[in-house]
Amino acid sequence: MTQQPEPEVSFSPQDLFDFPDPYPLFASLRASSPVLRVVQFRRETFMVTRYDDVATVLRDGETFSSRSNEQLTEVMGRNIIQMDGKEHQKHRQIVQYAFHFKSIAALESYMRDVIHQIIDRFAADGRADLVEQFAEPFPIRVIAKIAGVPIQDFEQFKRWALDIIGFTKDRERGLEASRAIEQFLLPIIAQRRADPVDDVLSRLAVGEVDGQRLTDEEIVSFMRLLLPAGAETTFRWIGSTLHALLHHPGALEEVLADRALVANALEETLRWETPVLFVGRETTRPVTIAGVEIPEGRAVTPVIASANRDESHYPDPDRWDLHRGADDHLSFGGGRHFCLGYHLARIEARIALDAILDRLPTLRVDPDRPSRIVGLAFRSPKSLHVTF
Ligand code: HEM
Repeated sequence: MTQQPEPEVSFSPQDLFDFPDPYPLFASLRASSPVLRVVQFRRETFMVTRYDDVATVLRDGETFSSRSNEQLTEVMGRNIIQMDGKEHQKHRQIVQYAFHFKSIAALESYMRDVIHQIIDRFAADGRADLVEQFAEPFPIRVIAKIAGVPIQDFEQFKRWALDIIGFTKDRERGLEASRAIEQFLLPIIAQRRADPVDDVLSRLAVGEVDGQRLTDEEIVSFMRLLLPAGAETTFRWIGSTLHALLHHPGALEEVLADRALVANALEETLRWETPVLFVGRETTRPVTIAGVEIPEGRAVTPVIASANRDESHYPDPDRWDLHRGADDHLSFGGGRHFCLGYHLARIEARIALDAILDRLPTLRVDPDRPSRIVGLAFRSPKSLHVTF
């Protein structure tokens, strides 16, 4: 019988955005307490930090239920991120096709146009903040297009997406954004029911689960997940990749000389600085991981970021290595909830990196305005000031 350790690690909601560097903590947990009961954002949970254990938790949806995400229901409503088994499968199927590789590939030229318009706005300035002016505005415009939300409202959507993500920090603001999204979407849903087109909102409006159309509330709840999921992740990946390229001497020159290395830079950055650090699960039966017994009905937190830097899986894991060539990181999750936006994120990131390298190959970090990668739930640089 293994004794359960007492909670030792505690985080506050503000840490979500500002935590400087959790990786030394993860390394010490992997070494001494690979499954540890902690208080995380005022909830008790078992943190799982080794690669093999995190992969097991993600892939075993029977034992590790996603109902733990029901804490998000208050702000998001009920959607696939909280569902298990058949219910999850049926709801996911309705929209899956819109995120299929072929459907996304058809949008490539639209994405290229958007990214070049974004670069046009600062290309003549000689300096820019690549997070605010380049990485951030891109994915929200793409997800708005795919979803079928009027493109002129994407700035508003960005603010709502951020407020929903920031729910644990500012509950009232999160709830306000949640209501605002509903008011905004209801007339569009009614329009799509009457006259469906080729977008996600139409698929949801006419889609059925067990012969029943989705309700307005179900559709709005899905959109409350989709918008932050599409907007709040890929921009972080693009920002962290540019940060890595600009802060590792010689890396940018190497990638400029051999553009096939853009794919390496993106993949290695996903491993090294995953945008989403952990996800949530709940045990459906008593289970033992790494010798620690976890009773039924307890929250479990598989820490993707820690798995990605597990020294027993990746040699010298804290080093960003352009030539590592490892593509088995867990940054898109695993099992049934594997990221629905996987193809979209990949194509967006590749298009963004290629465009900026084509247009501004003389990029340099602005030495007067340094930046670093921060965050605990989501990580990326808050700014990336460059000259060119
Ligand atoms: C670098 C970019 C991205 C990363 C790192 C990422 C990461 C993840 C992770 C870790 C999960 C699993 C959640 C869980 O197991 O509980 C997930 C699920 C999901 N992602 Fe992404 N994501 C990214 C981009 C996107 C984009 C662009 C979209 C837009 C379509 C998206 C939509 C979703 C959705 C809808 C789910 C829920 C899937 C389900 O529950 O079945 N993601 N993502």
